[in-house]
Amino acid sequence: MSRPQVASVVEAPRFGDDWWQRGVVYQVYPRSFADTDGDGVGDLGGIIDHLDHLGRDGLGVDAIWLSPIYPSPGLDVGYDVSDHEGVDALFGTETDFDRLVEAAHRHGIRVVLDLVMNHTSDQHAWFAASRASRTGPYGDWYLWRDPAGTGPDGEPLPPNNWVSWFGGPAWTFEPQRGQFYHHTFLAEQPELNWRAPGVEAAQFQMVRGWLARGVDGFRLDVFNAFLKHPDLPANPTRRGSSAWSRLDHRYDVDQADLPALITRFRDILDEAPGRMSVGELFVGTTERAATLTTDRHLVFDWELLKRPWDAAAFRAAIRRRERAFGPARWPTIVLSNHDQPRHASRLAGSIGAAGPDREAIAKAAAVIELTMRGTPFLYYGEEIGLGDVDIPPDESVDPPASWVGPEFQWWDRSQARTPMPWSDGHGAGFSSGRPWLRLGLDWKDRNVASQRADPDSVLSCYRRLLAARREQPSLQDGSLELVELGDPSVLAYRRLGSGTEVLVTIAFDRGGATVRLPVPHREPAWRPIAGTRLDMPSRLAPKDPLRLRAFEALVLVAEP
Ligand code: GLC
Repeated sequence: MSRPQVASVVEAPRFGDDWWQRGVVYQVYPRSFADTDGDGVGDLGGIIDHLDHLGRDGLGVDAIWLSPIYPSPGLDVGYDVSDHEGVDALFGTETDFDRLVEAAHRHGIRVVLDLVMNHTSDQHAWFAASRASRTGPYGDWYLWRDPAGTGPDGEPLPPNNWVSWFGGPAWTFEPQRGQFYHHTFLAEQPELNWRAPGVEAAQFQMVRGWLARGVDGFRLDVFNAFLKHPDLPANPTRRGSSAWSRLDHRYDVDQADLPALITRFRDILDEAPGRMSVGELFVGTTERAATLTTDRHLVFDWELLKRPWDAAAFRAAIRRRERAFGPARWPTIVLSNHDQPRHASRLAGSIGAAGPDREAIAKAAAVIELTMRGTPFLYYGEEIGLGDVDIPPDESVDPPASWVGPEFQWWDRSQARTPMPWSDGHGAGFSSGRPWLRLGLDWKDRNVASQRADPDSVLSCYRRLLAARREQPSLQDGSLELVELGDPSVLAYRRLGSGTEVLVTIAFDRGGATVRLPVPHREPAWRPIAGTRLDMPSRLAPKDPLRLRAFEALVLVAEP
C-alpha cells in the first residue's frame, strides 16, 4: 500500500563519533509505535512516518533503538528470534528496513538494533539442525547435556540444578537427541553455545551484515549471560524468595572471559568510527554494570529503575552510580523500558500522586533523566507521560507472564507496551484497525498532537530539556557533583564539563521548597534555562532565595 513520502530533509547528525555519549537515544517498540497497514501492529513504515516527531522539528533525539524486528514466532514477543538476518513480515519488508535507515539518517538520526544473541527461537534453522544430530555441523551450537540419571518414575533427570528466569527448570529433554538442552528463558528459547567456534563466527557475520546495511550500533540482549562455565557445574544454593534467587548464579552468568568476547565484538564495530554498543545487564548490580563498561561499550544498570519518588532515594542511587562508574566510565540513564513498569505511573504511584501532581512528577523525572551524567535512553511514550495500562488477563500478550504465573519476575509486561497515542482521532492515530493491545483510557487527552499544541505539556517540557542539553556541553560530557541546599527534600547537583557550569534542582515534595543556591565555581550568578514550568525566575544571585513549587525542577547555568 502507498505510504506518505518522507519529507526530503537532509540533516547532518548533531554529534560526531561521540554521539553515543553526547546524544540521546530513544527506544522504539516497533509493535506499538505506528501501524500503516491496518493490521493493528506497528511497522517500519510507521516509524518512517513519525521521524518528524523524533527529529529536529520534534523531540530532537540522536538515535533510535528498535526492539527486535526479526522473524519470530513471538512467544517472547520478538525476543525469540528465528532468523537474525531478516525482517519479520509483520513489520514490513527488507526494503522497508533499508528505507528506514536511509530516512532516519536523512533526519540526522542514527539507528541501533537490538541483538538477541544469547538464545534463538526453537524454530531457528540452527536449532532444528542441532536437535536432529549430535555429530552434524550444528551439533554443539546449543548447550546439550546427557541426563544426570533417571528419576523414580523413569523420567530423565536434568544435568544440574539451574533454573529458568521465567520459572521452572532451565533444562528441557529432547527425545530426538536423548539429551537435555539449556534455556535461561522459555523452553522455546534454547541457549546458544558461544564456546562453539561456529556460533561466534556466525553471530559476528550477522553483525557485519547489519553494519553493511548502515546500522550505527547495537543493544545486546542479556549479554552477560552469553558465556557459561564450560563444565556447567551446579550453582551453589542460598536463601531467597524465588527459585531463581535461591541460587548463587556463579556458573550461568558473568564468566571471566566475557570481557574478551565483548572486545572481539567491539573490534568489528570499530572497523568504522562512531558505532555504539550497549549491553543489557541481566540480573546484576550497578557495580557489575560499571565493571563491564568499557571505552565504547555502555552497560545498562538498574539503580534508577527501582527507586520511589523520594529525594533521599534518588540521591543514594546517584551516589552509588557515581561511586561505581567513577570518572573514567560512562553510565546510561534509564527510567523505563519494555520490561519494567513505566515511570510516569510508577513514580507518581509510589507517593499516591494523581492528576496535575502526576504530570508534574513526569516532568521533574524528565529533568533528572536528561541532565544527569550519562547517556539517556528514553522509552517511547514517556515524552507524553504515558503510564502503564490495565490489560485484562485475556488480552495480555506476554506469554511467559501468563504461563508462569505469580513466580514471574517481571509482572505482565503488556501493560508497558501499549500503542502510542498520536492524536485524538480514530484509533488514536496509531492504527486504522484493532490495536494488538488496548490503548490507555486517557488517549483522547494524552496524545502527541494535543501535547504538541500545549506549551505546558509533558512533551513540550521534554523538548525544552532536550534543547537545553544540546546547547550545554557540560550536560553532555560534564562530571556530576551532588550539592546540599539545606533542604533534604530537594535534590541538586552541578555538572561541570567542556562548557559553562550547570546546576540542577528538583523539589520532591508536594509543598515545594525554598532554598539558597550555592556559589558558582567561577561566575557570580545563575540563570534558569529550562525547567518543568514555563514562568521561570530571572537571574539569581547565590544569596537570593529560590522558591520551588510542588515537584518543580529547574536547570540553571552560571553566568557573569
Ligand atoms: C531481555 C529482554 C526481555 C526478554 C529477555 C529474553 O531481558 O529485554 O524482553 O524477555 O531478554 O530474551
